[in-house]
Amino acid sequence: MANANIEELPGVGPATADKLREAGYTNLMTIAVESPKTLADACDIGEATAIKIIDAAKKAAEVGGFESGDVILERRRNLSRLTTSSKAFDELLGNGLESQSIVEFFGEFGSGKTQVCFQLAVNATLPKEKGGLDGDVVMIDTENTFRPERIVQIAKARDADPEEVLKRIHVARAYNSSHQMLLVEKAAEICKKTPVRLMIVDSLTAHFRAEFVGRGTLAERQGLLNKHMHELLSFAEVNNSVIAVTNQVSSKPDAFFGDPTRPVGGHVVAHASTYRLYLRKSKGNRRIARLIDSPDRPEAEAVFTVSEEGIRD
Ligand code: GTP
Ligand code: MG
Repeated sequence: MANANIEELPGVGPATADKLREAGYTNLMTIAVESPKTLADACDIGEATAIKIIDAAKKAAEVGGFESGDVILERRRNLSRLTTSSKAFDELLGNGLESQSIVEFFGEFGSGKTQVCFQLAVNATLPKEKGGLDGDVVMIDTENTFRPERIVQIAKARDADPEEVLKRIHVARAYNSSHQMLLVEKAAEICKKTPVRLMIVDSLTAHFRAEFVGRGTLAERQGLLNKHMHELLSFAEVNNSVIAVTNQVSSKPDAFFGDPTRPVGGHVVAHASTYRLYLRKSKGNRRIARLIDSPDRPEAEAVFTVSEEGIRD
């Protein structure tokens, strides 16, 4: 029954099944573990219906299966770590960025989100002894901010061959939110040829924010974002890769985007990001990273710098 179709749930007809799938709920487990409010928003259904569907999915998926800690520990031994090239920043995250997770960098313009992405892209191509992942990188660029010249500078500063590094970074410009989502699927094709150990989405939310304006579009936007996040996480797990995404803060408080200095994307993005880091400007080239949300690290801050060489202490 755990592999049953979502159509087989009592009360779910073909139309609701389509809505669920559209919103990224492609199997019973993803429904079983969702909150009624999120499911209702994402699928544009009533909350009472959502509660019934979730209950049915819980029964059908046999939620409550336990794994012993040693099995989980063994799986976590396969995790790899990617350095930021700043010791303080790495320590904030335990020891760099963890594979099989989504790390979200949010902050206002110029806070260093894109620069951090460039540094991570270079580092991911480096051997493990140098804090790298010895893999290729996929970069989904929504704002046309990829600069190969910066990659060259940053690679040189890490004693890597810039040509080789550039060859391992696969960049695609995403023209709109659905193109952005499609590119995650396309990336799977690169993985058939070479291991992709880092996927960057810079920016995760900009297209969604620009395309879905007004209250009436909230459910659809959240549904698609939810689907996108699930696909990213699944990519991370299948390929043992790190997912790094950037996010903006909303500048004006309103019902749609929430408080100022809050990251965009609401609880869908908040939920799906394993680690959330708030970046802000300090004096000169200094930046402060604050770890906001983490399953295993205390809330804390680290100071780093952005310079021609990239990210440093
Ligand atoms: P948005 O995408 O606009 O939201 O901002 P962001 O957070 O992505 O900002 P980004 O990472 O592009 O940071 C830009 C800042 O990085 C610039 O304002 C500079 O302060 C700094 N920066 C970028 N390149 C260099 C460089 O070569 N040398 C130095 N010293 N600083 C740089
Ligand atoms: Mg940027």
